[in-house]
Amino acid sequence: MKTVAILGSGIMGAGIAQVAAQAGLSVILRDLQMGIVKDGLVTIEQNLDKMIKRGSLLADEKPKILDRINVTTDLTDVQNSDLVIEAVVENMAVKKQIFAELDHICSDHTILATNTSSLSITEIAASTKRPDRVLGMHFFNPVPQMRLVELVKGIETSDQTIDIARNFTNLIGKDEVVVNRESPGFIVNRILMPFMNEAIFIFGDGLATPEEIDTAMKLGAGMPMGPLELADMIGLDIVHAAILVFYNEFRDPKYRPHTILSTYIRAGYYGRKSGKGFYNYNINNTDIIMGGSNYDS
Ligand code: NAI
Repeated sequence: MKTVAILGSGIMGAGIAQVAAQAGLSVILRDLQMGIVKDGLVTIEQNLDKMIKRGSLLADEKPKILDRINVTTDLTDVQNSDLVIEAVVENMAVKKQIFAELDHICSDHTILATNTSSLSITEIAASTKRPDRVLGMHFFNPVPQMRLVELVKGIETSDQTIDIARNFTNLIGKDEVVVNRESPGFIVNRILMPFMNEAIFIFGDGLATPEEIDTAMKLGAGMPMGPLELADMIGLDIVHAAILVFYNEFRDPKYRPHTILSTYIRAGYYGRKSGKGFYNYNINNTDIIMGGSNYDS
């Protein structure tokens, strides 16, 4: 594995490009406009500066890492990469079109991965003539800090493809878990989303306040963060959309969102990013929780 291409230089794409370049790989970072790719590069530079400040990176490593990242808007530049990781918008039509183009452009040996959090790997792979060499590589945010990558098989993904993705994952200093059959949420979100939804039911049904629920899980189950604090941090719109994906796919009422969550979404209460969720936040400094919950339920 020598060259990896990353499509999309947003939150996830920039993070993946950074860790791959830190591992000594040659990286091609592609987005739709040069201004956007350069923004991704600025994010990477800022992250490296923070690492230097913390003492976890030597200052003379920074220019070497940045030198390994080549930016482009031209998809044909990725043709000889050993691995392409797609991290563009979460939209099936866009991803299918990109994979069909990649299949046409890339060498036979190129493995194509998607960082999708909710879409079907099998459906994305079916837009290519190499579904055995397509897989899901689900990174976690923020990529430089989070150790896990879920390697997700579509129905045709070969074991060899998983082995190559595993080697890459370990090369960039991450640990993998293999998900043998695709299913919404893979492992982490399949557990995490219903967990947060259950906490929302406890609050919505009037059993306890958000503070009590979060305190209970921190002190009683040893969790570093309570489920409602976590939901506010992830974004209630994202939690709501994810739980609806489960509900629609499994047709199981255990995945229905509580009406309090739907009401919050209608009101624009998206958690930290909007200043209001299960807690109130100072929007100019999202780390500070200003006060208690919005409802006594
Ligand atoms: P983002 O919105 O920060 O970045 C997406 C980037 O893709 C943008 O820079 C956009 O210009 C670019 N883009 C759109 N269409 C493109 C195309 N046709 N070719 C190349 N670039 C294109 O999104 P984010 O958060 O980085 O998410 C990317 C993917 O990663 C999504 O599939 C998302 O579901 C997944 N993901 C996101 C996580 C998160 O916490 N943000 C966690 C795990 C997965």
